[in-house]
Amino acid sequence: MNTTTNNGAKQYFEQIYQRPVILEAKKLTQVFQHGKTQRTVLNQLDLKIHKREFICVIGPSGCGKSTFSRVVAGLDPYHSGELLVDGQPIIGPSPERGMVFQGYTLFPWKTVKENVMFGPLMKGASHASAEAHAREWINIIGLEKYENQYPHQLSGGMKQRVAIARALVNQPKILLMDEPFGALDPHTRQKMQKHLMDLWQNIDITIIFVTHDMDEAILLADRIVALKANPGEIKEIIEVDLPRPRSAELMLTPEFKRLREHVDALVHAQEEELDPALEELPKIPRMTQVSTHK
Ligand SMILES: Nc1ncnc2c1ncn2[C@@H]1O[C@H](COP(=O)(O)OP(=O)(O)O)[C@@H](O)[C@H]1O
Ligand SMILES: [Mg+2]
Repeated sequence: MNTTTNNGAKQYFEQIYQRPVILEAKKLTQVFQHGKTQRTVLNQLDLKIHKREFICVIGPSGCGKSTFSRVVAGLDPYHSGELLVDGQPIIGPSPERGMVFQGYTLFPWKTVKENVMFGPLMKGASHASAEAHAREWINIIGLEKYENQYPHQLSGGMKQRVAIARALVNQPKILLMDEPFGALDPHTRQKMQKHLMDLWQNIDITIIFVTHDMDEAILLADRIVALKANPGEIKEIIEVDLPRPRSAELMLTPEFKRLREHVDALVHAQEEELDPALEELPKIPRMTQVSTHK
């Protein structure tokens, strides 16, 4: 990478750090009871996320990524420490933190439009105003032709777009996404990544995106928070100094590959530690006479 790009990146991150902190974790700790023993899943996490940042949270399976997103969503109470949005403690779910989770489904008995209208109606908007807002967001995500369809009539990618619209219609400060594209095929997933980057660049939103896909994290993030397990702590925060707008072709560049190797080493080192059986996978005895594989 040449010096100009490096200087550009330095300036980009300096600007980010000057923005107000929107989410702050101070010694955030989560403990689960397993029978008679207690298990610390998040251990004294300290983290500051700035307004309009795109943060990806990665780490090996079971390291506490979803535990983190659930406490930020306000779905689970945390054990100790502090967790603040705009300086105010999180005490439960709120439309100011929109959620798009892989398994967090739409209301199957409501149409696309009714799903998106749900938030504004809950906040006391009139039917006409809720409908107008819902339409606006359905247009932004490009599903106007589907507004009267039910979730079962939509593809996986469309459902997640509706889920995004349903969250954004409430004008949240933070959009919290936990493996939102995990169930999509690679092509749809790539399109959704691009769609999400477009949305983020054009609206005032801070995104916290949990994924175990390292390419996805590098493609999307300003900063990657790499968690480690046992107990969940921040292993490293990586500034992704790649230019925007980004597209899938970026993955072929040496700069991307360099970051990928770095992130791989961080996460894989721990995967084997967490599952030692991976290192001892047995050699399969030959049980066939077919000779295509020598
Ligand atoms: N409600 C719960 N009760 C007890 N243990 C839990 C609960 N939720 C998560 N855990 C445990 O916490 C650890 C982290 O889980 P999770 O946050 O889902 O990991 P990740 O999303 O990184 O794969 C796992 O060992 C999991 O079994
Ligand atoms: Mg998870």
